[in-house]
Amino acid sequence: MTEWSPTSWQSKPAAQQVGYADGDALARVLDEMGRLPPLVTSWEVEQLRGELARAARGEAFVLQGGDCAESFDDCRSEPIAAKLKILLQMSLVLVHGTRKPVIRIGRIAGQYAKPRTADVETRGEVTLPAYRGDLINRDAFTAEDRAPDPVLMLRAYERAALTLNFIRALTDGGFADLHHPEYWDVSFAKGAPNADQYERIVESIRESLDFVSAITGVENEVLRRVDIFTSHEALALPYEQAQTRRVPRRPGYYNLSTHFPWIGMRTAQLEGAHVEFHRGIRNPIGIKIGPAMTPEWLVALLDALDPAGEPGRITLIHRMGAEQVAAKLPPLVEAVCATGRGVLWICDPMHGNTETTPQGIKTRRFDKIVRELEHSFALHTQLGSRLGGVHVELTGEDVTECIGGARGLAEHDLERAYKSRVDPRLNYEQALEMAMRIARHLRGGA
Ligand code: PEP
Ligand code: CO
Repeated sequence: MTEWSPTSWQSKPAAQQVGYADGDALARVLDEMGRLPPLVTSWEVEQLRGELARAARGEAFVLQGGDCAESFDDCRSEPIAAKLKILLQMSLVLVHGTRKPVIRIGRIAGQYAKPRTADVETRGEVTLPAYRGDLINRDAFTAEDRAPDPVLMLRAYERAALTLNFIRALTDGGFADLHHPEYWDVSFAKGAPNADQYERIVESIRESLDFVSAITGVENEVLRRVDIFTSHEALALPYEQAQTRRVPRRPGYYNLSTHFPWIGMRTAQLEGAHVEFHRGIRNPIGIKIGPAMTPEWLVALLDALDPAGEPGRITLIHRMGAEQVAAKLPPLVEAVCATGRGVLWICDPMHGNTETTPQGIKTRRFDKIVRELEHSFALHTQLGSRLGGVHVELTGEDVTECIGGARGLAEHDLERAYKSRVDPRLNYEQALEMAMRIARHLRGGA
């Protein structure tokens, strides 16, 4: 293999990239981003790698979730706090169910670039470049808005920094303290089918913590401060490159735009630019694997991205769809097990279950999402492997994008509060219900 550098990906074929008309403007943006401080630190990245290694050994469980695509407009306090709140609430339910620490990773503070199946979009007589996320171009359907603008990379970096700053302030400032009922209650979902069960879980955890602090005289810090790690699809390689650097006193390069970048399903070509870029960074990395993945390809990806077989380095995020998981997953799990590698497997039950209604609305069915998850847990167990986490698209708000769930959202409800510009997300209640279903499943319940 040739020498790696933060720019060596540029000599490889790069899928899903855009051309910038003004090369000088692009160079100025990259230069500026390269001089700005990092969003995360190398020690946080190392900490996460260690925690993912624990999850791979079955000692922790991963909850990775957030928007399909973050938008600049939603860089506001309410949506960020609501997302944090649902992630914390789900993780509490999962801690209770799995009796294991839960590693919380947001699809947040950088999830601004999207892969697209079609390069262009046609409306009537007009064909324009597809919208590729706020980091690349703008959603409005005009030639000017759809032209890739390098300045948007800087805006994305700044929005990511603002988001992360707020998350850090909230989590350090007691947002996660179980004694703050305002953060933990589900009052806006009162009357929701699972609210009572959730309240009982919170109460029982709060009582256990109070009991421990009463007999030890030590305030329990565990749920007062929590770690939230960030992740995004490392799709727009100029953006990732600009934040990739060496740090004092540690070998190698870190991509400090996020703790946990992942390679999307459309950019996992063995000889492609995304694999080249990721092989040289020290971060733990995720690889999305869909029904088209083959055992040979997957093993070759592991050899390229993790030649040393480092614990915590690779997380395989499978997204096969409820119908295909039983056929497609086992050969991949068997092939990886045969290499003796200790990778972490997590299931994304969203992206293989997207469908379009007769009215042309993109949606997902809650029961299929749960079915893929349940199949995945069972398949891993049968194969002597382990499913160590879930990856979901969710929002803390009361949207109507996915069908089903305990409140029984139907197709005709979708129009009421459909806000996603890309994929349909679980709403607050559906997300909490999913956590409860997983917890119940892992505890051997119905
Ligand atoms: C996504 O996670 O939003 C996504 C595009 O996923 P995938 O690469 O698995 O299709
Ligand atoms: Co998506």
